[in-house]
Amino acid sequence: MILEQGYIIKRKATIRQEESYTMRLVEAKEINAIMNLQHKVYEGLPNKQVLYKDTRQEMLEDLSNGAMVIGVYNSQEQLISYRYISFPGHSLKNLGNDIHLDNSELDRVVHLETTLVSPDYRGNKLQAITLSKAIELIKPLEMKHLICTVSPYNLFSLYNIMSAGLNIKSLKRKYASKELDGMWRFILHKDMSKSFSIENSELKMLKMDKIFEQKNLIEKGYVGYNLIKDSQMIQYSLSQ
Ligand SMILES: CC(C)(COP(=O)(O)OP(=O)(O)OC[C@H]1O[C@@H](n2cnc3c(N)ncnc32)[C@H](O)[C@@H]1OP(=O)(O)O)[C@@H](O)C(=O)NCCC(=O)NCCS
Repeated sequence: MILEQGYIIKRKATIRQEESYTMRLVEAKEINAIMNLQHKVYEGLPNKQVLYKDTRQEMLEDLSNGAMVIGVYNSQEQLISYRYISFPGHSLKNLGNDIHLDNSELDRVVHLETTLVSPDYRGNKLQAITLSKAIELIKPLEMKHLICTVSPYNLFSLYNIMSAGLNIKSLKRKYASKELDGMWRFILHKDMSKSFSIENSELKMLKMDKIFEQKNLIEKGYVGYNLIKDSQMIQYSLSQ
């Protein structure tokens, strides 16, 4: 089923070219296209810490448990972007645990997992467009909490996610394994059932990569609610 169609700009070196795109759900049998795009995007990243690579097995398992991958295809039917969302339920990986959500809320959590855009197609707001589509798709499922992780070194992703109303609730190392010491991640959250308001008298600002200063602030109850893109400063407030 086609979810959306439109036009995007492909940029290669100095050439800009308008091209049609189609958005649809990616099927499990297309896992190779997902893995290939992930590999290409990862290899092109100047800082590999910003992307935790999903394994084929993890994704296939998630897809069989109701996860969705919204794919964007170019005019040659090549996958150029995707957004992966999952429903962690009461599993240990539920990020609701990291922000101390009540146990009874965990089955209303949606994880915004990986989002990738092929370098030639960046700048078309595909991260934001696929997020709006994801919110539309999950509406009938009566989910309440949108949660994701973003690296404190990933300006573009953090800016897009915070612009969509997700706020920083935690900062910690995630994805630790035998080989890996873990990577710093903000945990961002939006409660879709209510609007977020700030305590105006208690505002603070910190640069997005100041790990320990932000961690201290968050531990005191501050929430990061806005990112100023040019200065890379995050505005924090006590939430009401
Ligand atoms: C984060 C990401 C998905 C955003 O892609 P996008 O939706 O195309 O980004 P936007 O359309 O919001 O881009 C806004 C501007 O930032 C630029 N931009 C976006 N991502 C960029 C990047 N990784 N490096 C340099 N510039 C980037 C765009 O070219 C655009 O510039 P313009 O204003 O001059 O046109 C994309 O950068 C990406 O795939 N990054 C690698 C994977 C990743 O970090 N994913 C998120 C964590 S899972």
